[in-house]
Amino acid sequence: MTLKTSRIRKAVFPVAGLGTRFLPATKAVPKEMLTVVDRPVIQHVVDEARAAGIEHFVFVTGRGKAVIEDHFDIQYELERTLADRGKTKELEALIADLPVAGQASFTRQQAPLGLGHAVWCARDIIGDEPFALLLPDMLHHGPTPCLKEMIDAHRATGGNLIAVAPVPEDQTHQYGIVGVTDADEKVARVTQMVEKPAKGTAPSNLHITGRYILQPEIFDLLARQEKGAGGEIQLTDSMIRLMTDLDQPFHAVRFDGTIYDCGSKIGFLTANIAYGLERADLAPALKTEIERLMARPRS
Ligand code: UTP
Repeated sequence: MTLKTSRIRKAVFPVAGLGTRFLPATKAVPKEMLTVVDRPVIQHVVDEARAAGIEHFVFVTGRGKAVIEDHFDIQYELERTLADRGKTKELEALIADLPVAGQASFTRQQAPLGLGHAVWCARDIIGDEPFALLLPDMLHHGPTPCLKEMIDAHRATGGNLIAVAPVPEDQTHQYGIVGVTDADEKVARVTQMVEKPAKGTAPSNLHITGRYILQPEIFDLLARQEKGAGGEIQLTDSMIRLMTDLDQPFHAVRFDGTIYDCGSKIGFLTANIAYGLERADLAPALKTEIERLMARPRS
């Protein structure tokens, strides 16, 4: 079987979930628009994709998510006002964040039937080429963007890639876990994939972190619309089929930076503090405030 090793040009961002863990904040505001410091979470992830060389950004949105589309569009009145007030730096920063015309596509997942279903909704826009998939909840922070490391690895491996990172052994049952040929290698062949393995049965402590490079054959498998765990159409189920039934290679790329799960409250709060502490304009005052809070007597 020949596998395509062509360039990864397009990335999918599934943003149609309900964000129930953040209610009531997410009643009218998509969780992807909650901010880490002063950038929406989705903007941080689009930044990562752009830094990895992605040229076309495909958003799978849903009801109540139109503001994401607006975020990646020109805001004529705002830009006019900034220009009139001489706020050149702010204006340039806004323009720099915009995708070039024609480089962003939006498609709707009419009902949140699961991540696998959301990815399938992007099939016509992706077409017959390998693509990147980034889960916007998961911020990957490190010296090299996670997706760039994966695209570099893909040039050598071809096939499918999954970013992974270690979790404590007693937490493996909460994650999608992969077994690999050599857990010490930066890039290793995947031998097994299990969604939330029962305690004591995980093939390793490497969890799937929310960055993927997938071959387009995944869409044929997702098209079967088979429901998995939680009654949702799961991506992992189709990835397992792609590896076992279609015999396609998967490699795991170990991400050595820090991952913040912004779909959870603790991950989101921690990301705000960590990203704030990295900002020269904020760090000194933020440190002082954190120290003041920590020194406060607890009730
Ligand atoms: P999550 O399960 O973390 O997101 O899916 P959620 O369902 O919005 O969150 P909670 O659990 O209710 O708080 C991971 C990513 O997949 C997208 C979500 O938007 C999120 O970015 N997703 C999930 C979809 O686009 N469609 C779905 O049907 C499910």
